[in-house]
Amino acid sequence: MVVLFRILPRQFEENSGESDVVAFTKGLVAHAHLTQGDIVTYNKDITNINAVFTSDGKFQVQVPGIYSFHFYSLSRSDSEIWLEFRKNEDYVASIYAYTASDWADAGNTIVMELQAGDTIFVKAVEDYDNSLYGAAGEIYTTFTGELMFSEASGFQNSQIKHSAKPKKTFSEAMGTHEKTYSLPQVDLNNLCIHFVVPQDGTYMIHYNSLSELGMEMWLELYLNDQYINSAYGQAPHTWADAGNSAILDMKSGDRLRVRGRKGENIVLYGQPDEIYCIFSGVMLTAKNAPAAGANAGQIQAFAAGLTKNQNNGVTTTKVTWDKVFTDHGDNFNQTNGVFTAKVSGVYVFNYHGMGQQDEEVWLELYHNYIYVNSLYGHATHGWAGGSNSAALYLAQGDTVYVDMKDHSTKMFGDADQIYCTFSGYLLAPMVKGSPVVGR
Ligand SMILES: *[C@@H]1O[C@H](CO)[C@@H](O)[C@H](O)[C@H]1NC(C)=O
Repeated sequence: MVVLFRILPRQFEENSGESDVVAFTKGLVAHAHLTQGDIVTYNKDITNINAVFTSDGKFQVQVPGIYSFHFYSLSRSDSEIWLEFRKNEDYVASIYAYTASDWADAGNTIVMELQAGDTIFVKAVEDYDNSLYGAAGEIYTTFTGELMFSEASGFQNSQIKHSAKPKKTFSEAMGTHEKTYSLPQVDLNNLCIHFVVPQDGTYMIHYNSLSELGMEMWLELYLNDQYINSAYGQAPHTWADAGNSAILDMKSGDRLRVRGRKGENIVLYGQPDEIYCIFSGVMLTAKNAPAAGANAGQIQAFAAGLTKNQNNGVTTTKVTWDKVFTDHGDNFNQTNGVFTAKVSGVYVFNYHGMGQQDEEVWLELYHNYIYVNSLYGHATHGWAGGSNSAALYLAQGDTVYVDMKDHSTKMFGDADQIYCTFSGYLLAPMVKGSPVVGR
């Protein structure tokens, strides 16, 4: 498990201009067969705000800073996904998915510091072909990136570099209540499943993992002793991917942990050149953010989950998330599951779903009445899920919600098993074409 945590209060008023807002989501709207080592060329721009791509499809950094990236994909039936996320030519992280006679989902989130000129891209591994699913109304394969803090915002003077170091080693983090994790051939010094919160604030958190062949992966996110949410994967004769996200208010000294479900034998997969298990986070805003500028320190962020099963009865139905973790700015309506932006700007949304046993989960993200992207999971014997992300420009009053597709969707949830979540936050206030910031 690699840990990537960045701490710095976002201070919108310090952004110097429009180019300091960088966010994109690209998607695949046609099936893609990648032969060995091909770069994924996403063929739909869902959102592009100041993001520059090279002619061969690589995101090229113009504004140095701390970026967050999310990449997701769904395999074609009975096919394999095995993709690598790269910075320049350097290996960073992987995703893998395969399920016999079914579609399989995988994804990951990376938080990293980049310099101008760096390129970021997703490519097939050298030794295997990939068959990625894509269609106009079925975008599962996406690549999202957002600039969290530009270098100009002064993060170099912050504790970031220091905090990027693991707070504790993996072995130290193993408490008596935590089940054995086995991560073959991974340098234990680079592992950490513990994050000690350095400063009061609101944080965006992600974790993704891959089970060892045929084994179970059942992870839980805890804030101190408070259960937050889970990720589960297990499939016979293959490796299973799952992850989840959260937005939480945390206090200095709080312990944020990803741990194994008690009583389960959990085995995660990892190699130095195959990193699937990543725990990452970014501070969105400090509790006492300075109140300068039009919207400085004003956080708009919500996170919600499902603590009970929800079925759609084969008609398109909005997911009504019954548990709200966070709703800064009061944008999220728990009654109908709809997020309505009070502040115009660029937002980033993440959603995760898991189906009931042997059932299907098929969710779609909508912006007003416009389809954005989807997740899909189905297991013939067991539980399967999916995830997706999107950066979206929202005008004041715009809505974002998750629909269950007009197909049999049976979402799974329980009080101590929250796999289905929906969260979002304001990356930067902005009126179309010109940020609110820096006036
Ligand atoms: C939330 O949604 C319900 C159901 O659509 C609606 O009746 C209610 O007015 C909404 N609440 C707000 C604050 O908009």
